[in-house]
Amino acid sequence: MEDLKLQLDSLIFNEALSVGERLEQVCEVLRSNIAHYDWVGFYFHEPETRTLHLRAFAGEPTDHTQIPFGKGICGQVAESNQNFIVPDVKAQDNYIACSINVKSEIVIPLFKDGVNIGQIDIDSHTIDPFTDADVALLEFVNAKVSEIL
Ligand code: SME
Repeated sequence: MEDLKLQLDSLIFNEALSVGERLEQVCEVLRSNIAHYDWVGFYFHEPETRTLHLRAFAGEPTDHTQIPFGKGICGQVAESNQNFIVPDVKAQDNYIACSINVKSEIVIPLFKDGVNIGQIDIDSHTIDPFTDADVALLEFVNAKVSEIL
């Protein structure tokens, strides 16, 4: 995990790449290094329209590139400003299915100067895979990413 954090840190601060390229590569590094991460994406807020917009991802393309605040797990995090771990998506009423293979999800808000401006969203094909280690890793990634935005 420490090696992965070092790799992510140098990627996030690699000024030879655009911010968009760095976000795409962060998604891909997470997806390919962690067995239970099957889809990784960053959504960012558009406050005027109260919607989330997908800006970078790794994994299967999704139809859900814009999500209204309050809808689905992502939309709820836009309003709650809290981490949301879903061990079993079937148990959630307010959930937007991206693929029938997804069993669980974690969404961690991304704060810039104390304001919730987006989130990292992970889908997994495994039931109940997420632990405190995932929360720590994803909070680390979001804190670093907020420094380049
Ligand atoms: N499942 C999410 C929608 C985004 S996809 O996972 C890529 C939700 O319920 O908000």
